[in-house]
Amino acid sequence: MQTYPEKFSFDGLSPTEIQEIMTELTHYEDKTAVSIEALKIVQKHRRWVCDEALIAVAELLDISPAQLEGVATFYNLIYRQPVGKTVLHICNSVTCWMLGSDQLSERLCKHLQVELGEMSVDGEYTILPIVCLGACDHAPVVMIENEILLDMTADAINKILDR
Ligand code: FES
Repeated sequence: MQTYPEKFSFDGLSPTEIQEIMTELTHYEDKTAVSIEALKIVQKHRRWVCDEALIAVAELLDISPAQLEGVATFYNLIYRQPVGKTVLHICNSVTCWMLGSDQLSERLCKHLQVELGEMSVDGEYTILPIVCLGACDHAPVVMIENEILLDMTADAINKILDR
């Protein structure tokens, strides 16, 4: 059975988040193996991972905050700053870039009145670049939340967003 570290402060995470992370820990021998899952749990509850929560997760997993920050930064679906209610990821790897992902991104930012990488003032949208989504034969590719959209045009996305 997993137990809390002796000095764990319980600040920075809700009881539900702690419980879910502890449950996840029961599946692994090595606490560091739970890093991404633990960050995903926090993000599921808050939509992003603030510094306070990251430090608490690191404490719970008995790793350094810097090490966990490295994991959070490497994994580009963990958000380290607040995001809008809808997050659009636009692939900017080579095939999508060659087929106009930059222009797509520009038009979308204009349409949604948001800067790339920022949250819109009304808190509705965030548009983020992402590396290859593995559907290069259908570039440009966009991911809205967990849905992958292929062969995208700005008009097609606008229609989806205007529904
Ligand atoms: S380059 Fe965009 S999906 Fe591969």
